[in-house]
Amino acid sequence: MKKIGIIGYGCVGQGLVRYFAQQPHLPYTIAGIAVKRVGIPRPETSIPITTNPEVLLEDPEIDLIVEAIDDATAALAYAEAALRNGKDVITANKKMVATSLRQLLALQTTTGRRVWFEAAVGGSIPIITLLDGYYKDEPLMRIRGILNGTSNYVLTKIFNEKLDYNRALRQAQQLGFAESDPTADVSGKDAWYKSKLLAYQAFGVDIALDNIFHYGIEYLTHDDIQYARSKNKRIKLVPIVLPTQQGIASWVVPHFIDENDPFYAIDNEYNSIEIDGQFLGKQHLTGKGAGALPTAGALFGDLQRATRSGTLPEYGTPGIADPASIAVEVYIRDRHVLSNDVLAFDHVREGYLDDHYHYLIGHIGLDRLIALKPWLEKRRCTVVATGHYIQKDVQPQRAHARTLGAAALPH
Ligand SMILES: NC(=O)c1ccc[n+]([C@@H]2O[C@H](COP(=O)([O-])OP(=O)(O)OC[C@H]3O[C@@H](n4cnc5c(N)ncnc54)[C@H](OP(=O)(O)O)[C@@H]3O)[C@@H](O)[C@H]2O)c1
Repeated sequence: MKKIGIIGYGCVGQGLVRYFAQQPHLPYTIAGIAVKRVGIPRPETSIPITTNPEVLLEDPEIDLIVEAIDDATAALAYAEAALRNGKDVITANKKMVATSLRQLLALQTTTGRRVWFEAAVGGSIPIITLLDGYYKDEPLMRIRGILNGTSNYVLTKIFNEKLDYNRALRQAQQLGFAESDPTADVSGKDAWYKSKLLAYQAFGVDIALDNIFHYGIEYLTHDDIQYARSKNKRIKLVPIVLPTQQGIASWVVPHFIDENDPFYAIDNEYNSIEIDGQFLGKQHLTGKGAGALPTAGALFGDLQRATRSGTLPEYGTPGIADPASIAVEVYIRDRHVLSNDVLAFDHVREGYLDDHYHYLIGHIGLDRLIALKPWLEKRRCTVVATGHYIQKDVQPQRAHARTLGAAALPH
């Protein structure tokens, strides 16, 4: 019987405890739960609760730590301590893994233990496990997703029920899909972390977050929505991971999605991932993107994998594309006149101007978008991708790169 310790007893931690309680035959015992605050009401449990995570991290009888806290800095310290103490770590914390990937990989190598993060990407969809197994030897041409349930809920309400942005967001908060501070979700940050983790798991590369352009949905206006509707399109926040001849590129931008695209019908808090494989063709996986039990199911999947395998990932050959090698076609909207002298579109295909609404559509380098991001946000511009992009080459180039150790990462 394996013993596990859980750090965090909020939505996810409680989900995992419920998951175990409903399946008493499982070969695991929860030895203890660590939380932060004393004296707050919690669901009753016979499992010992402590406010000192060290108790679990230093218990030699505990084989595995499940980390389910909402603080990426503390989560990293706990994950590092667990690895050093010979325990695998299972986490739902995309920010912690994405911002500390290099340290965690280095610790994996020195300790021989592993960090499992299925629950950090795509909620209940087993994308990390599939990339690590079924898709391991498939030359992948592209990965696209809807990976943020909050933005997708808000966009669904805007497009399907004509709610305005603020009302849709309030509704998402009331229903528990959005946190009280939804900034990470609506700014595209949450999907940004996930995009980095997908690029790592799929291609074995550690792309600097600064090189993954991300833009959120918070500046969308009525004009933008009307524009999309006039073209029979919806808008979805879509992260893309793309192998090019130069290496792996990634960006996270709201996209115009037309009705023939399977993402068109992915509504509310659901997530979806499209895997485009050279041999398998396109495959779509759809499921709940968050929530106590779907996330607990993903954590449990990792628990099974962690206790079955014990081997460390192999080393691979990373390659990261220069963002300048990709030009993405985007719609950029401002309340004032947009000058292409500033934007530096490679080519402008369409434009419109009246006294409060100006947009341009054209191809622009990802490097230029990254440089323009603060300027665009300051002016509260909308950025929506059309789904077209130009790259030098689309050859898949991920040789053995799926699973990596720290030494393979570029410095
Ligand atoms: N909610 C979801 O549907 C979902 C889905 C996928 C991934 N995730 C990820 O899962 C993680 C947890 O999310 P959640 O929604 O369960 O958060 P939550 O409901 O806010 O719960 C957080 C828990 O962490 C504990 N905690 C915070 N800081 C701590 C510290 N320094 N030491 C010990 N315990 C600490 C809190 O203790 P107290 O109870 O004492 O405050 C609380 O029990 C986050 O990384 C989130 O991004 C969540």
